[in-house]
Amino acid sequence: MQSFDQFILLSTPAHLSLVKTLLIIMFLLHLPYIGIFIGSSFFSTWFNISGRRKKNLLHSTFARDLIDTFAFNKSIGIILGVLPLLVIALIYSQILYQGNAITLPYLVYSFLPIVLGLIFVYIYKYTFHFDKGIFTLISGLGLLLLLAGYFVFIACIARFHDPEKWIFIKNPLQVLIGWNAIGSYLTFLTSSFAITGVSIIFFFFSWGDKLKGVKSDYIEFVKKFGLIIGLIFTILLPLFVVFYLINLPDIAFSNILIIISIILMILLALVTNLLSKMLQQSQTKFGTHAFVLFIVAFFVMILNSDTARENSLKEHTKFLALESEAMLAKLIPPREIEAGGGITDYAKGESVYKRVCSTCHRFDQRVVGPAYVTVLPKYENDIQKLITFVSNPQKVNPDYPPMPNLGLKISEVEAVAGYLLKIYQEEDK
Ligand code: HEC
Repeated sequence: MQSFDQFILLSTPAHLSLVKTLLIIMFLLHLPYIGIFIGSSFFSTWFNISGRRKKNLLHSTFARDLIDTFAFNKSIGIILGVLPLLVIALIYSQILYQGNAITLPYLVYSFLPIVLGLIFVYIYKYTFHFDKGIFTLISGLGLLLLLAGYFVFIACIARFHDPEKWIFIKNPLQVLIGWNAIGSYLTFLTSSFAITGVSIIFFFFSWGDKLKGVKSDYIEFVKKFGLIIGLIFTILLPLFVVFYLINLPDIAFSNILIIISIILMILLALVTNLLSKMLQQSQTKFGTHAFVLFIVAFFVMILNSDTARENSLKEHTKFLALESEAMLAKLIPPREIEAGGGITDYAKGESVYKRVCSTCHRFDQRVVGPAYVTVLPKYENDIQKLITFVSNPQKVNPDYPPMPNLGLKISEVEAVAGYLLKIYQEEDK
């Protein structure tokens, strides 16, 4: 990965925590979108084929409605489908700087099948009205590319979260194969199908009046299909989440991770409850609730993976913080060393006073810090005490904020202490 690190700047801890927040946002934009995209184009292709074979108009209509509704338009495809991927790769290369040498390029390679897959499915969407079997084939191919691309993508991320194995990974197969990766991938697929079912209910029934004036047998068909798919996969999802958790590397675990997982389970149970209620009563009035809850569940799943990563990369993050400190130290030139005359070097003391202390102090008036005439008496006969205080200020007076450590050299502190006491005594006379 040396080649990748060339393009990346070492980040400071503050910058890193900013990009990690951005990472969560990117996943939250991307994963629900791509989940619905994959699920709906899968079912659209499926019903297209069966509509054609069995001459079933219901199926053909549903195939068209699905791809029309959920493959949104091209610009949304680029904004939610492609851009977040690039940002995610960039952020991971910062987080992993000088860490995971072999895996990062595979993350980038996975974009090729993913983008091709998106394009193929869009071709299917925009040629639907031609009603040609060949376009169904293209859609199927697009789906395969998407599924393969996301397997690589997710396997890479699972590897990133397993730093203990980094040094052992020498070839591509090791990047891809591992229970941890498979657990993440199955969770991804199941949640994709679950959110597709929930979205069918939300977008067809709760959002606008898509089905106005449509025959009631079609409405019943769509309702039942959405609810059943949503229900089956929402029920399956906790199993895969547990499978994913069991296969996480030990260092990824923490109590917080367990708490987040429990919250996730509760959310999924709520969605399951809403879906099964609607199915029993054959209505869709909780469509919006179920959809919103599911998006929240996605957010919690993303937090879950985020926490696992933070836990397992703790050491690497510390390493980056030290590296960036070292880098900054190199950038700031060392202050020139002046030959010191100790506490009697009044010229130097005066210059330190003017340059540093006078920002916050005057002799006879309160500024940010107290007036020197009020605080120097107690140091008058104990210059060493003053030197100690200025080199390492401690909280003294509750009326003032604490004085910061100014990072001065000891010779500078000595000089300024000598200077202050001299001026104070002169003024006193
Ligand atoms: C950024 C502002 C700031 C700068 C710069 C600063 N001080 Fe202070 N100083 C304070 C504040 C605020 C307090 C009051 C702290 C407290 O009471 O806890 C304080 C308190 C003091 C005190 C009184 C301590 C006591 O025992 O009550 C001394 C002496 C002092 N500063 C010396 C210096 C000297 C010498 C310098 C320059 C080398 C300096 N300060 C630079 C903000 C500053």
